[in-house]
Formats: sequence, C-alpha cells, structure tokens
Amino acid sequence: MSTDEFPTDSPAIVTCGLPYANGDLHIGHLRGYIGADAFNRALETLGQETAYVSGSDMHGTPVAVNAEQEGVDPEEFALEWHRKYEETFPKFNVDFDNYGHTHDETNTELTQEIVRTLDEEGYVYEKEIQVAYDPDADQYLPDRYVEGTCPYCGEKARGDECDEGCQRHLEPGEVEDPTSTITGNPAEYRKRSHKFFRVSEFSDYLTEFLDGLEGTSNARNQPRQWIEEGLQDWCLTRDMEWGIDYPNGDDESTEDVVLYVWVDAPIEYVASTKQYSERVGTDEYDWERVWREDGEIVHVIGRDIIQHHTIFWPAMLEGADYNAPRAVAATGFITINGKGLSTSRNRAIWAEEYLEEGFHPDLLRYYLTTTGGLQQDVDFSWDAFQEKVNGELVGTVGNFWYRSLLFAYRNFEGTPDADVSAEVEERIEGAIGEVREAVNDYSLRGIGQAATRLAQFGNEYIQRNEPWKLTDEDPEQAAQVIRDCVQIAKAVAVLLEPITPDKSQLLWDQIGEDGEIADAGLQAALEAPPRSFAEPGELFEKIEDDRVAELNEKLEERVAAAGDDEETESDDTAADEATNMADGDTDELEPLLEDRIGFEEFQDVDIRVGRIETAEGIEGADDLAKLEVDIGFETRQVVAGIKQLHDLEELPGQKCILLANMEPAELFGVESNGMVLAAGEQADLLTTHDDAEVGEKVR
Ligand code: 2FM
Ligand code: ZN
Repeated sequence: MSTDEFPTDSPAIVTCGLPYANGDLHIGHLRGYIGADAFNRALETLGQETAYVSGSDMHGTPVAVNAEQEGVDPEEFALEWHRKYEETFPKFNVDFDNYGHTHDETNTELTQEIVRTLDEEGYVYEKEIQVAYDPDADQYLPDRYVEGTCPYCGEKARGDECDEGCQRHLEPGEVEDPTSTITGNPAEYRKRSHKFFRVSEFSDYLTEFLDGLEGTSNARNQPRQWIEEGLQDWCLTRDMEWGIDYPNGDDESTEDVVLYVWVDAPIEYVASTKQYSERVGTDEYDWERVWREDGEIVHVIGRDIIQHHTIFWPAMLEGADYNAPRAVAATGFITINGKGLSTSRNRAIWAEEYLEEGFHPDLLRYYLTTTGGLQQDVDFSWDAFQEKVNGELVGTVGNFWYRSLLFAYRNFEGTPDADVSAEVEERIEGAIGEVREAVNDYSLRGIGQAATRLAQFGNEYIQRNEPWKLTDEDPEQAAQVIRDCVQIAKAVAVLLEPITPDKSQLLWDQIGEDGEIADAGLQAALEAPPRSFAEPGELFEKIEDDRVAELNEKLEERVAAAGDDEETESDDTAADEATNMADGDTDELEPLLEDRIGFEEFQDVDIRVGRIETAEGIEGADDLAKLEVDIGFETRQVVAGIKQLHDLEELPGQKCILLANMEPAELFGVESNGMVLAAGEQADLLTTHDDAEVGEKVR
C-alpha cells in the first residue's frame, strides 16, 4: 500500500461486504455493492489498475438458522441463494471481476492456511469458556441460536452482535439472560474449550493502522474507542457443524467445532482475488502482490461491520504476514420513507422488484450514490426517487444531452468542425479535477456532483449563447457553441460513467464513439468526438406522479399485509442487519405542548444563523461531534450528537441554526457553547435557504 494519491503504481483491489447467502437482496445491500462498483469504475477512469471482488457468505448461524427453518441442508440452501445473487448483480451493472463464495475450495484452503499460520506464529491459544446450551434441544447455542441482553448497553442482543444497541461484537458467553432461539427456553451456560486469537496483542499495531487508514471517518473513530477500552481476544471457533473445519485434524479439542464465520468471510476477499488472478493470469493481475506486498486494498462495508474490518481483520492480516487495507469506507444505512428498512415487515425495496417495475438500474445507482455522503444514512422514498430522477437526470443531464445533440445533428449532422473554446475546456478540466479529488476523498456523491454540475453549466451555456439565433446570424459562432456543447455532453458521460454506466455508454454510442466508454479514462472528456452522428434519442424518461402514487400504494399495502408491529422485528433475517439499525419508533410524533409562551419569552431565546467551520468526532464518544460554528460575532465550539448521522467531512461550509444563549455544558470533557438545531431520527440539520447572513437572529 502507498500513501500516494490515486492513481498509484500499485494494483488496487476494491471489495464490498459479503452478503449472507440467506435471502433476497434489497436496496440496503445494493447501496454497498453499487457504491463499491462505482468506486472501482471511478478508479479505472483515473487510470488505476484495479479489480473488484466479493462473494457470498455461506457459513455461520445466519445461514444455518434460516436453512434449518426451511428444513434444508445449509450447503444446498446457501448455494441456491449464491446462484441468485450471481444473476442479480449484473442486472444492476455491478461488475465483479470475480464473485466467489466462502464454501469453495479456494477459500477453504486459504482460510485453513491463514489460521494455521496464526497458530504457528503463536497468536492462537485454547481457553475454557462458558457457552450457552439448550438442554431441551440438546445442543450448544452459538451466535444467532441465542438471544439476551447486551452487557455493554443493556439492549436486546443476539449471541454475537448487539444489533439493536451499541453494535458491538459479542463474544460467546457474554450475552446476559440467554434464551435459546430454538426452543425459547432460558439457556444454560456450560464449559467448553475454544481457540482464541490474541487480538489484544495487536493494540499498538491497530492504533497506528487506524492513524493511516483512509476511507470514512466513522471507520477510524469507533475502533479507536474500542482499543482505548482494551481489546479482548477473539474466539475463533464455534460448536456447530456448518462451516470450515479448524485446520488440525487430529486435535481433539477442535473435533466438534468449525471456524467462526467471521474468520473465513473476509478471507474470501483474498480467495476471490486469487480466483480472478488465476483466471486472467498473474501477469495481468497478481493477487499475491496485492495481498502480500503493495496492493491498495479498499473495503466498502456497512457501518455495522466496522469492528470486524478495522480490528479483527487487519490483526489477522498482520499476524499472517499479509498487507494492510488502505481504506475502509463504511456506508450509513438505508431507511424507507423515514423508517428502518425491515425485511420481516416487508418494508424494503427488493432488488428484483425494482427491476420488475421497469426502472433502469442506473437511476437507482445514481440515487444511492449521490443522495447524501457515503457515511450518512440515506432515506429512500418513491417521491424522493422521482424528484431526484426528474430533477437531476431528466431535467439537467438528459435535457442537456438531448438538446445539444439534437441541435448538432439537425444543423451539422454531428459535431461541428470547430475547436473547443478555452472557457469550456477549462470548465471540463475543472470537472475532471473535481472527480479526481472526489475519488481520493472516497466521495461518490462528489463524483456525481462534478458531472451534474458540468451538465448544469452546459444548460446555462446554451441559454446564454442562444445558438438557435446564431445559425442564421452568425453560423460560425453557432458552430463554435454547438461544438462546445457536444464536448460537454461527452465529458458529462465520461465523468458519470462510474455511476450510470449504461446511460453513459448510450450517449457514447450516440455521438458516434466506438468501443466502451468504461475503457476510455477521464482524459477522454477532453478528446474530440467523431465528426458525424445519427439522430439522437432521449436517454432519460420522466417519472410521472401517478406512477409514484401507485408505487407508494403498493409499498403501503405490503407493509400493512406483513403486520407493521415491533414484534415481528426479531424475525428479520441476517440481510436486515446491514440496513435496519436506524429503525426506531418514528411512527409517533411527540404531542404538541399545551402551554403557550408569549413573544417576549420567545425573544429570550437567541437563535442565530451560523456556518460550520470544522467538524470532528470526539474520541471516546460514539455519537458526539465537536463543531466550530461561526455566528458572525464569534466562533462557538458546540458538541452535537451527529457523529453517526452525518459525514463530518462534508459539514464545513454548511449553514446551520444555533441556539446561542444555551447554558454552556461539558460533554466527554469538551465544552459545548450553544446548540445546533436539528430534527428527526437522522438529525436533519436546520438551515436557511436564501440570503440570511451568518449571525442574523432567527425571528
Ligand atoms: O454482515 C454481513 O452481512 C456479513 N455477511 C458480511 C461479511 S463481510 C466480510 F468480511 F466478509
Ligand atoms: Zn450493546
């Protein structure tokens, strides 16, 4: 790994979290897979050598429990889902260089080899621990076979994760008041011998690793706190049959156990890369160089699995003498109409359903990558989808593409014979620079915005120059303006390709270019398009209001049919976890206060327009961020509970509303001198929308 900006001289690997092979894919999954795909494509446009791999997560209780419920063999069950996923991803233009699964030979061998190395290097030891056991079912209860209370935050937790509370990984025996999910009976704790990985020995290494880690700030901040609190060693084995065997056949203590699913799952990143290398040849892409020497490893994950990717995984890699990840980009969750995505309540947009509704995948790709920063939660509603598609893709990009090309075709039968103006060339160069910067900031939204802003500039450029008036008055000038527009249209397509690969390809074809736009690279944005092209067609179609009403109705009906009550939540399959953590009781609005206040009392409240100057997480506090807010007269330091809900790197420059005469307080040792106002589950920050100056009073 290098610390140079992309593109670097070393090969990159982009991965996304492996989906458990246990249920239908929905937009919560797609956000990660599309996001990583877009990032990988964007690296390619920069000229970075890169590959994109993943695979299905076949093992563990998430698969075993669901297979058991259906009365099928876990292997057969998981393989069936794996095959479905293989078919679904390409339909969303998610273009894996390799998509394997954790139960295949490559991963099994590599996992055993890595665990053997950790063992030989002295990082593994055996320990007797208490393991939950169901006497009625006569079986041990690993992970999802047991539920109880999280010892850290007191919320309801599954055996190995506190998915409704603090999101910590829980070790066997940690969950309090354990209940068997098989019989519903209280579980007993029994003594068992298990293998442990000495994660605690890696504290210093991991602290340094996190200091250099790129990606999103949440992936650095949360683990720092866990390290400060003291790392626990990690139980590597589980009392169950489904999984990969511990790699020392004759050791009695490991006879009835398999490796914990989180051991072999991330190793699939390596195994999948190896399969890709073996297919294309190591001269073209060398997996060992990537994973053992100087590869740029970029993991895109959901924020619920930060601990696995920034503590356990890098410690395993280091212990087995592998390369360290360069970046971990952890996405926020998806909510649906402001409520948590829930598969058991059918409050989800299913991947296949989206396609069956006849929407192009690029529309969803655009929505998911450009609505909010990577680490922010993104709400999906058909209304917001319509607004984004109609406003940005139809109104800005599509409109510019079509009007420019049609005008060029009708008046010049293609690209006019003129040079691009200096103004337009400079503007396109600027947009290319913005994309480069966005890629290096791991900002997919930044990539999309650079492209749509360029299209917006194109629309203004046409309006300003009115070529329709020039064709008679000044044909040469008309040719110049339209030449510029065709170049801008091509540039927008090139810049947007990582996000809307099909639509960009169609535009590429329309302007008469040959080959694949995906192979073109960012510089193609400045290269002249072919001289002639055929009559263009419109590439985006408006979504009508009645269509949205129909979709809303369908969604409401099926959520109602599933019975929208909190009780059903525990039925959720593993696929939910990556997405439904933001689920809260948002149905009920707080009642209005009966007591009225006079205007004078309101005058006592000093609310000001502010501008956020800096925003950073507070060490040791999961949710808190420290903001410096300019309120005209002075800059205030304020502590706000928004660390998990906003991409802190994107806040500087944004206007906000600040309660200025709030009593100062101290939170986690940091003084808070005011309160930033926000509303809703996602801490939607209040702001002004027009010319209110910083420092002005809110009246
Ligand atoms: O949380 C999950 O859905 C896991 N299946 C993710 C695994 S990612 C990795 F490390 F393999
Ligand atoms: Zn907890």
